[in-house]
Amino acid sequence: MSELWPVPERVTNGAVTPINSLAAWREHWLRAANDPNGFWLDVARDLIVWQQEPQQGLVGDYTTVQDQPFAWFADGRLNITESCIDRHLAERPDDIAILWEGDEPTDTRAISFRELHRDVCKLANALTHHGIQKGDRVIIYMGMVAEAAIAMLACARVGAVHSVVFGGFSSEALRDRVRDCNAELVITQDEGLRGGRRIPLKETVDRALLGEAGVRRVIMYERTGAEVGMVEGRDISWADAVDGMAEQCTPVVCDAEDPLYILYTSGSTGKPKGLVHTCGGYITYTAYTHRTVFDLRPGDIYACVADVGWVTGHSYIVYGPLANGATTFMFESTPVYPDAGRYWDMVERHKINIFYTAPTAIRTLAAESDELVTRYDRSSLRVLGTVGEPINPEAWVWYREVVGEERCTIVDTWWQTETGGICISPIAPATPTKPGSATLPMPGIMPLLVDSDGHEQHGPTSGHLCIAHPWPGQARTVWGDHARYVATYFSTYPGRYFTGDGCRRDADGYYWITGRVDDVINVSGHRMGTAEFESAILVLDEVAECAVVGFPHPVKGQGVYAFVVMQPGAQPGEALEKRMQDALRQQIGAHARADRYQFIPGLPKTRSGKVMRRIMRKVVEGRSDELGDVSTLADPTVVDAIVAGFRGI
Ligand code: PRX
Repeated sequence: MSELWPVPERVTNGAVTPINSLAAWREHWLRAANDPNGFWLDVARDLIVWQQEPQQGLVGDYTTVQDQPFAWFADGRLNITESCIDRHLAERPDDIAILWEGDEPTDTRAISFRELHRDVCKLANALTHHGIQKGDRVIIYMGMVAEAAIAMLACARVGAVHSVVFGGFSSEALRDRVRDCNAELVITQDEGLRGGRRIPLKETVDRALLGEAGVRRVIMYERTGAEVGMVEGRDISWADAVDGMAEQCTPVVCDAEDPLYILYTSGSTGKPKGLVHTCGGYITYTAYTHRTVFDLRPGDIYACVADVGWVTGHSYIVYGPLANGATTFMFESTPVYPDAGRYWDMVERHKINIFYTAPTAIRTLAAESDELVTRYDRSSLRVLGTVGEPINPEAWVWYREVVGEERCTIVDTWWQTETGGICISPIAPATPTKPGSATLPMPGIMPLLVDSDGHEQHGPTSGHLCIAHPWPGQARTVWGDHARYVATYFSTYPGRYFTGDGCRRDADGYYWITGRVDDVINVSGHRMGTAEFESAILVLDEVAECAVVGFPHPVKGQGVYAFVVMQPGAQPGEALEKRMQDALRQQIGAHARADRYQFIPGLPKTRSGKVMRRIMRKVVEGRSDELGDVSTLADPTVVDAIVAGFRGI
């Protein structure tokens, strides 16, 4: 399916973004490509409040990155909370900044910019009171309560560097992150609430911090009021922490290149990396892309139903929307609680104009009766966004026709934790769409496709997706390990940023992301490394070796298939499978499950010992007839055993 779907009139009429036609897109894209510094300095000065306006654009590039991170707006000084809060406070203090809906549909809250300012200032003052200074690291381990956004902004207010850890991660994963960034303070809540279930967040923090003397203070927001243990001298409730704190807090002025946050993400190898986003470039890029892609209009109710634990929540629930003064919606629950009509019920009740979710949610809901959609009034909707994984054309068409009733346009936004913001996407009023294509690059993004030798491929073609030039929102480094940043992103194709994704470009210049070409698996939009799965499973004494691969899954996008080689004498079977699941839950989190285990006599390896994942991937994709020549393997018979033991998926 590659026909062009025109932008509906409802989306083109009254557009406010200057990019309101393909011709305008081309003009802006060319200007940004020809003069990136001039383009981005204009955007930064236009959209962001500075204490000292930047004069410098980019310093450094992809060839000097091994020596030091490149910089944007290096002479600029700001505190990003002035862009996100204070300026709106001056103009329209009573407008709603955060519209929150809890696990139960009746549990809603509207927080004005005035209230947001007060709550952020009070917590910021509490952080200072507890010794947090500019540059210190604070871990935020919470569910989707408004206080998670308040905590992020309070850190930014005092120049502290936050690292939000998704509330589904286990205590071991949390401890790894606390250690990696040497956090001094943790902000959490007693329990999370999701789909009627309680998630013991504080208890998990306590387990993670056993023996971690570096964390001096834990601030706990009381969400459910559950009885939880408080460690004397370390723990304090949020209410007590902010009690008596001043309602004003002078923002700490930061350099544009001071870190704003660290966010851990999985890669091909090793433990997750702490990607570092910096203040000036990140806020410029998220504000710009948010208003441009969605064509944000005054008075819009904007809803992104991601979790703040992932980059989508950072850029498009908190920072981008608030910098643009939008009303941003925060959602604590799941798309299927109390039933699969929840999203559309919220659209009707809150009159949501822009709705942004993930393909896995769309596929889950499309599998239910359409009546769960059509029973609600969706006439407020104008733009429907998707992010996190490739969207199959069937789900795309359902989203546009059933949810959007042909009145809305779909923006399939491709980007990554590393990119900070949307890089390839339709711009709502400008770009005709194609089901399954992320369409065209944003101004300032110069994609290129290379073959495996790094040769650029021109015209309609397929290849590995790289980007030729830095943009302000790009992550600058890996926390504490710049060499790893360089090795991961800039060594495969020197002088270019390698995204890890495969991609096709068609005759119209539209981009079609085909998925990861490395050992990253994307399950329901959760990005995980096969190496993390393998090291968790290998903890079991019975397991000698293991290799994990992804396979196409109709709802989750990808599923996880684990090949396990046991120690001599160990018993395969359900009991062992359960222990492997437990190990995954313990070491990564409940979202890390293997869908299938297969016990095999050995891993397919070359004579030099390299594990041939390609072979295992083909088997689980049902393409055993395409394995090619396996005679060069150290033991070709293991392939027969793998094929014979494969029971389908
Ligand atoms: O493979 C791409 C996929 O998600 C990866 C990035 O994951 P993460 O850093 O967790 O960020 C997700 C939210 C931005 C990418 O390398 N991906 C993301 N968006 C799309 C996508 N694949 C296809 N189409 C998309 N729109």
